Amino acid sequence: MFTPAITATGVYVPPHTITNDELVVAFNAYADRVNAENAEAIAAGTLEAIPHSSSEFILKASGIESRYVMDKEGVLDPARMYPRLRQRSDDEPGIMAEMGVAACKTALGKAGRSGDEVDLVICAASNMERAYPAIAVEIQKLIGARGFAFDMNVACSSATFGIQAAADMIRAGSVRRALVVNPEITSGHLEWRDRDCHFIFGDVATATLIERREDAAHGFEIRSIRCATEFSNNIRNNNGFLRRNRPDGMADRRDMQFMQEGRKVFKEVLPMVSAHILHHLGDDGIDAGALKRLWLHQANKTMNDFIGRKVLGRDPEGNEQPNILQEFANTSSAGSIIAFDRFSDDLAPGDLGLICSFGAGYSVGSVIVERF
Ligand code: COA
Repeated sequence: MFTPAITATGVYVPPHTITNDELVVAFNAYADRVNAENAEAIAAGTLEAIPHSSSEFILKASGIESRYVMDKEGVLDPARMYPRLRQRSDDEPGIMAEMGVAACKTALGKAGRSGDEVDLVICAASNMERAYPAIAVEIQKLIGARGFAFDMNVACSSATFGIQAAADMIRAGSVRRALVVNPEITSGHLEWRDRDCHFIFGDVATATLIERREDAAHGFEIRSIRCATEFSNNIRNNNGFLRRNRPDGMADRRDMQFMQEGRKVFKEVLPMVSAHILHHLGDDGIDAGALKRLWLHQANKTMNDFIGRKVLGRDPEGNEQPNILQEFANTSSAGSIIAFDRFSDDLAPGDLGLICSFGAGYSVGSVIVERF
């Protein structure tokens, strides 16, 4: 058996930013437009007017200040309200592969490795731009990796579940070096016309390089990983390959985008995640006080504050539980990896930390790491 270690991460940041104020101006223009079109029905009381959104609400309810997107103009066009992405030919790299490759190259560069030293690529994300061939196989080709590659989807927990799959294969010796890649174009499945959630997501891609510890001079040894799932409909997206076969399947339906019961998610996921982390630490004989850092899923600041308090038994201090959601919003599976990428260099050999993701499924994944 070999010991797996995270030896580098990479983040690809999309070219455009949308601030809360910009988003709210576009949403309110959209609402005014739809309300004007339906003025008669609204006056007759047969239709409710769409209320305005507000930057103050967004910041207070979520902690989010801005988000990155692959296309800004389409999202902010009140007559459209979703990204405008160029049609690519089948002979050029897909957009997810392109974002993923950029993140992979950064991670490989940091570790001083080349693509041909990698023998497993897992593309783990909350949506894939096509059914097949796997995006991971395209990334494998573009970076010149050997071995094999596959896609997997566990929504917001895709990164930690992907890390578990890769780390277990490295532990067993079936692969030597793996990249877990998380290209998230959440702007493509967010319903920008829904005031309750139009502010929550952003685009990004992350990559995590996992090697045998003995192959690297420094990094983070993976002490253990714990994944869990429990079925819930409270975060759901019904889009899929059977769409055209169903009555009204091709209509502009709300359920073809991300849907959530935000309050229920809050109430049900928080205790699930806190208990999951505490059990994971307990089973490994690690006192929560020994953790130098928590790199949590980045969905909501209040959620993270709650989990930090529950796990540590007190308010987290300074950088103990860093957030990046104020800049990136919720980037689905990539959030905890961006936090790890940005806030892990200062840890000293022997320091312990925990990466944790959670979301649709429900799903939760935690990775205990030790700096070396
Ligand atoms: N602007 C202004 N007001 C808004 C608004 C907006 N954009 N969106 C909702 N509101 C209003 C609502 O109408 C409601 O008004 P009411 O009290 O008069 O009915 C009020 O604000 C509270 O709405 P609510 O939806 O209960 O807000 P919330 O405090 O639950 O915050 C989320 C919303 C989405 C930020 C929060 O539920 C959340 O983060 N949930 C979990 C998210 C998560 O982890 N999801 C996983 C995705 S992977």
